[in-house]
Amino acid sequence: MRNDRIEVRPVAGALGAEIVNIDLAHDPGDEAIDAIRRAWLEHLVVFFRDQTLAPQLFLQFARRFGEVIEYPFVKGIEGFPEITPVIKLESEKTNFGGLWHSDTAYLDQPPMATMLIAREVPPFGGDTLFANMYLAYETLSEGMRRMLDGLVAVNSSAKADVTRTREDRVRDGAKQDAKQQYVAEHPVVRTHPETGRKALYVNFGHTVRFKDMTEEESAPILNYLFQHTARPEFTCRFRWQAGSVALWDNRCTQHNPINDYHGYRRVMHRVTLAGDRPR
Ligand code: SIN
Repeated sequence: MRNDRIEVRPVAGALGAEIVNIDLAHDPGDEAIDAIRRAWLEHLVVFFRDQTLAPQLFLQFARRFGEVIEYPFVKGIEGFPEITPVIKLESEKTNFGGLWHSDTAYLDQPPMATMLIAREVPPFGGDTLFANMYLAYETLSEGMRRMLDGLVAVNSSAKADVTRTREDRVRDGAKQDAKQQYVAEHPVVRTHPETGRKALYVNFGHTVRFKDMTEEESAPILNYLFQHTARPEFTCRFRWQAGSVALWDNRCTQHNPINDYHGYRRVMHRVTLAGDRPR
């Protein structure tokens, strides 16, 4: 077994670290789980390679970090309602979640974390970008930070761009009990409940406007923030192989899977872990 001496290797200046010398198919033990959690809080997204985690073990590992919750719109894989299939088929042109976003920010209590495992990957492309929302906040001017600190954003599941990215999977396996639209108001700047750091919490996928303002009034600042949050120096890029696992913190990151592999299949399994109400 490889779990006695895990090593944490940062992959970029802004965020992201690969954790090596660990076999997740064997319960890593409390000490290793604590070390992974510390690395995750420090690096915001952690990656593992060459893991052979069948669905049951994937769920078991995820449960070491929190309570697994279901995705509202798409049914889980056979026998595992909590595991969402994130698939793009050879014939499809749109990839699930293919734009900058933080997962399901339109829920009152958006997930703390998401864990994704790659089952089948294209021969090239299909990488995922991640961005650090602490840095995005900290690099704004003092005046902008002061203004944003007092604002609330309205987040919706029904923005046209993001709705399009889930259409193929909804066609395959829509959940009958899903609402037409989920809407949640959250602070534009949230304080991470574990690190105490402030992070920008608006995203292109879901944020529609500032509370008490129209979409037109909100757009200039929101569009500026959407560009700002995706600055290359705030990001890292992960190249998937079958058996790669990523665990990211939705409270202080955004991600964007790159849609550059038309004609090839990419199959991932995803679970999300319960979070609190952003404050
Ligand atoms: C997602 O937004 O959960 C999908 C991420 C990916 O496919 O890399």
